[in-house]
Amino acid sequence: MIREVPVATIDDVRPGTMLMVQVDGTDILLVNLEGRLHAVQGICSHEYFELDKGFLTADSLTCALHLSRFDLETGDALDPPAELPLVKYPVTVTGDGEVVVELPEGPIPVNG
Ligand code: FES
Repeated sequence: MIREVPVATIDDVRPGTMLMVQVDGTDILLVNLEGRLHAVQGICSHEYFELDKGFLTADSLTCALHLSRFDLETGDALDPPAELPLVKYPVTVTGDGEVVVELPEGPIPVNG
């Protein structure tokens, strides 16, 4: 079963910015790359570190602790030391600008 969880409005996450939100105590990072929205696990898959402290480039997110880059289209780790991908969650924006993340019922999957 999938649940649709409203987590923010599109005005909260403008192009080129990130926003950390919490669902059931789990951090989820919203990233707006030039108008394209992504939702990924908010904590690095390498060690416990918040990814909203990282840096955005054209199509990747760099963790600020050990500088692994993650492809935001796939979630894949592009550099060591991270090996596991970031879990991505489907995300949509409703007609009135609400950002909605699709999550499974129960525990939210996270790698790391
Ligand atoms: S904690 Fe993110 S690369 Fe190590």
